[in-house]
Amino acid sequence: MTTQSEPEIPHRPLVVLGAGVVGLTIAYLAATDPQISFKISIVARDMPEDMDSQAWASPYAGANWSPMPMGGVDERHGGWERKTFNKLWDMIPTGLVKKLPSKIYSVQEGSAADIWWKDLVRDFRVLSPSELPETCKAGVAFSTISVNPSEYLPWLQSELLSRGVTFERRHVRSLDELTSMLGEQGILVNAASLGSKSIIGVEDDKLYPIRGQSILVQTPRLQEFLALKGDEYSSSGGEATYIIPRPGNTHSDTALLGGTFQVGNWDTSLDMKTAQGIFERCSTIAPCLKDKDTKILKHSVGLRPARQGGPRVEVERLDLPLRSSHDLVPWNATGGDKSGKMTVVHAYGFGPCGYQLSWGVAEEAVNLLKANL
Ligand SMILES: Cc1cc2nc3c(=O)[nH]c(=O)nc-3n(C[C@H](O)[C@H](O)[C@H](O)COP(=O)(O)OP(=O)(O)OC[C@H]3O[C@@H](n4cnc5c(N)ncnc54)[C@H](O)[C@@H]3O)c2cc1C
Ligand SMILES: *[C@@H]1O[C@H](CO)[C@@H](O)[C@H](O)[C@H]1NC(C)=O
Repeated sequence: MTTQSEPEIPHRPLVVLGAGVVGLTIAYLAATDPQISFKISIVARDMPEDMDSQAWASPYAGANWSPMPMGGVDERHGGWERKTFNKLWDMIPTGLVKKLPSKIYSVQEGSAADIWWKDLVRDFRVLSPSELPETCKAGVAFSTISVNPSEYLPWLQSELLSRGVTFERRHVRSLDELTSMLGEQGILVNAASLGSKSIIGVEDDKLYPIRGQSILVQTPRLQEFLALKGDEYSSSGGEATYIIPRPGNTHSDTALLGGTFQVGNWDTSLDMKTAQGIFERCSTIAPCLKDKDTKILKHSVGLRPARQGGPRVEVERLDLPLRSSHDLVPWNATGGDKSGKMTVVHAYGFGPCGYQLSWGVAEEAVNLLKANL
């Protein structure tokens, strides 16, 4: 081939704020895009090795592709879902992604006709009454995918390190702390999820947490994603019931039992009554959980970084010096009084679906980067 073109602007600085699944995937696509050449740095308070830190969401995900209401009503959201599903499905042979036979049961009669995602997943079919648990009236079966955050995030990080991407652990209070890294030509990606609520330059008060408590277990008998369709996505809900088996080379046969869906709840402490409820509910759809050899590996609480109106993926041209909503700014949380502009591509607010939107969102974010060079 002779069409190899020179990168248009070589080695322009690209700073990605946030090392969750979204920041890492955006950095990955930026680092592997043949049309652009960035000098990429990731700046984050929590890094892929911090799997017990509750200050970020990515360690706590299932993480599977699971139907979400917004994918059916918002075309852009649906597109991100489809792209990501197909990308992860293609990654099954790598062993990082598990092909997951799935069943979702419902205690109410239901029709499959209005299910928007039946052509997105694979092998979709309606369950016959004989395949349902006693307490359920309807259900569907399909094949989806899952990843294991404790292997998937380190994989993304190692791919980035091998391409010269640097990682700097740092708590950022104001976006203009990054101006010296960006120089005149640089672009910033803001993938700081719930951090964007208080970082000066963003201060997005549409952000809110959805608390998720879960139990990680090990048992070879759980190889299917099972879920009970409830009202967990309504604001009155809060109790969800799902079992997500995940791939694992170092830890095999693990599954995440969930969960809770507590809107606006910032409590990161464990509640053992909640854990008891999760275990009981999951056992109704998978009685084998109560077998003697089920091993409890750990209990977790994570906060899903949700946003009123849905995720924010867009470009913003900020005026420097930045203005904050208050005048109690830490003395050195600023790049100085220099005036000018700062280009930011925002990508945050993915709530319960950061993994299952990651590749679609990253592709859009990289297109925004290219359009704003
Ligand atoms: C119980 C539970 C189950 C879930 N299950 C699924 C699932 O099955 N499928 C799915 O798709 N999703 C699931 N999710 C949601 C998923 O975990 C999130 O949507 C996703 O991890 C968000 O990724 P992110 O990169 O946007 O943010 P995060 O993972 O929160 O990362 C944010 C990054 O920004 C950094 N940061 C924030 N503020 C600052 C600051 N001031 N300075 C420097 N750095 C900062 C953090 O340190 C971190 O590196 C689940 C979540 C929970 C809690
Ligand atoms: C700001 O100052 C504090 C001490 O007051 C210091 O610990 C911190 O590292 C400084 N941060 C930056 C970005 O300079």
